[in-house]
Amino acid sequence: MENNINFNNVSKSFSGKVVLDNLSHNFKLNEVHVILGKSGMGKSVLLKMLMGLMTPDAGQILINNKKLDDAKSIDNLKISYVFQFSALLNSLSVIDNITLYLDENNIDSKENRLKKAYKILSDLGVEDSASKIPSDLSGGMRKRVAIARSLMIEPEILLYDEPTAELDQINTRIIAKIINDLKDTTNITQLVVTHDIGFAFAIADTISILDEGVIKISNNPEMIKETNHPLLDPIA
Ligand SMILES: Nc1ncnc2c1ncn2[C@@H]1O[C@H](COP(=O)(O)OP(=O)(O)O)[C@@H](O)[C@H]1O
Ligand SMILES: [Mg+2]
Repeated sequence: MENNINFNNVSKSFSGKVVLDNLSHNFKLNEVHVILGKSGMGKSVLLKMLMGLMTPDAGQILINNKKLDDAKSIDNLKISYVFQFSALLNSLSVIDNITLYLDENNIDSKENRLKKAYKILSDLGVEDSASKIPSDLSGGMRKRVAIARSLMIEPEILLYDEPTAELDQINTRIIAKIINDLKDTTNITQLVVTHDIGFAFAIADTISILDEGVIKISNNPEMIKETNHPLLDPIA
């Protein structure tokens, strides 16, 4: 199959405890995929495997039929990760956080790096925070800065781990709009782990439910609503 991220019989255990159990699933590229699941079900593990921060015990991850590592090294496939707690450095200003990776790897000229960073910050509505220290920003602003940083390498695939976990409704809406704008204006494939049902329905092309080590259900939001899965109960 073409144009997808394919988890092919992926398993992962920690000290004998099975977290992912022969999980197989295709995520079509260029779409927004939401992964829902109870705490401890392996949602972060799944994202970390795509990021290359963890490797499967068995099975493999393919991107367009190519092994993940080969897709990254041979085709220069770029995957970015928006960490759950944003993981910005408080010893650096926002702008220096954003350009850090490109600075350290000497990618492009300093002038272009800054130009690109200010453009992205401005697209995300946080250009006024450029000279501030991340710890001086609100949670919503920090999240936007973290997204801005992840966009600097121009990723084909962007992973978000619980991007609205610490956010109020207004900021959650802002993040939903950013994800929808990226869907409309780029070809970035976005994989979003969340337990916020309203947020999931605001952004998803597909919703997948991770439970007991596998993806139990996966469908478009309309069809997912029909399933009445207990996880979709707003007070669950
Ligand atoms: N590096 C690790 N070492 C040991 N156990 C881990 C590690 N990472 C995750 N786990 C375990 O794997 C399970 C799934 O974790 P995680 O993917 O973080 O869940 P969540 O769905 O809440 O994101 C949990 O039981 C967690 O304790
Ligand atoms: Mg997690």
